[in-house]
Amino acid sequence: MNPDSVQSEGLQAIADAPDTAALEQVRIALLGRKAPLVLALRELGSLAPEERGPRGKVLNQVRQSLEAALDARESELEAAELDDRLRRDRIDVTLPGARVERGFAHLIEQTGREILEVLVGLGYRISDGPEVDTVYRNFDALNHAPTHPTRQATDTYYIDEHTVLRTHTSPMQIRTMQSQPPPVYMATMGRCYRRDTPDATHTAMFTQIEGLAVDRGLSLAHLKGTLLAFAREMFGADREVRLRPHFFPFTEPSVEVDVSCFNCARDGSPCRVCKGEGWVEVLGAGMVDPALFGFVEGYDPELWTGYAWGMGVERIAALRHAVPDIRWLWENDLRLMEQFG
Ligand code: DAH
Repeated sequence: MNPDSVQSEGLQAIADAPDTAALEQVRIALLGRKAPLVLALRELGSLAPEERGPRGKVLNQVRQSLEAALDARESELEAAELDDRLRRDRIDVTLPGARVERGFAHLIEQTGREILEVLVGLGYRISDGPEVDTVYRNFDALNHAPTHPTRQATDTYYIDEHTVLRTHTSPMQIRTMQSQPPPVYMATMGRCYRRDTPDATHTAMFTQIEGLAVDRGLSLAHLKGTLLAFAREMFGADREVRLRPHFFPFTEPSVEVDVSCFNCARDGSPCRVCKGEGWVEVLGAGMVDPALFGFVEGYDPELWTGYAWGMGVERIAALRHAVPDIRWLWENDLRLMEQFG
């Protein structure tokens, strides 16, 4: 073992180590348990006493110079590696973050929830019912004559002879009365289906909200008061409602309900919402025909009276937001939808 060459080659290897991991290998090779220098130091004891001193001095100087060089190189490499990491990991806190788009309820859903909230405030309980229901609940128990035209397969989607995609939410009146005794204050929202040719006011799938109240002594005045409260919440505090005679199989009397126009001065001048009429039709309603109580149990028509109404959520939404064509509400064009986000 030649101390001079161990020193010079060692110092060269230390200087050449490209990173701290390589330097650690150099350290093991030079000063590890099996390194020639370390073995030579260990053998000093077996030398003759007069050789031991000078030899030990040389070997220890070599060891110290290698240790010093290793430590210096290590600091140097660590500093360089830290610099490098800092350069690569740098975070620019001034860059804009990755934007998370927040969703929002569709206008139909928003409008429906708003209506239901008004009804909950009036004491109605929300029910949810199936979009597929029986012919019995959709037509028979709602007092539709066997020959009623809307029963035809050209108007209604049949699943089979006894089952339809509901054509309105009114079967929920029957479901509710089948499942609980009076009094009842029920509201429901859901999809309905008709074989309509789509146009600006019709789509084959649409959304209705139905209300049903059955209690002792209910009259048309209670119906009108309820709908007035609804109209004022949805269309403005100054609104009035007007009932016009109509016909539905399941109500007697039946009415169509108008709300005073919320878009114009109501002086007969042209108005895109009411066409100068001053009134806008918003829903159908009436007193529950006592015949319906004959289709359910526990509702004695001598004791109980009721009123009901049904309305198209798309129509209400389109009226309030001046959407000229309700098909647009089903096209889900974000340029329109995002205006209601
Ligand atoms: N079901 C009717 C329709 O789809 C709307 C309706 C009218 C519901 C009068 C009612 C009502 O509850 O009393 O056109």
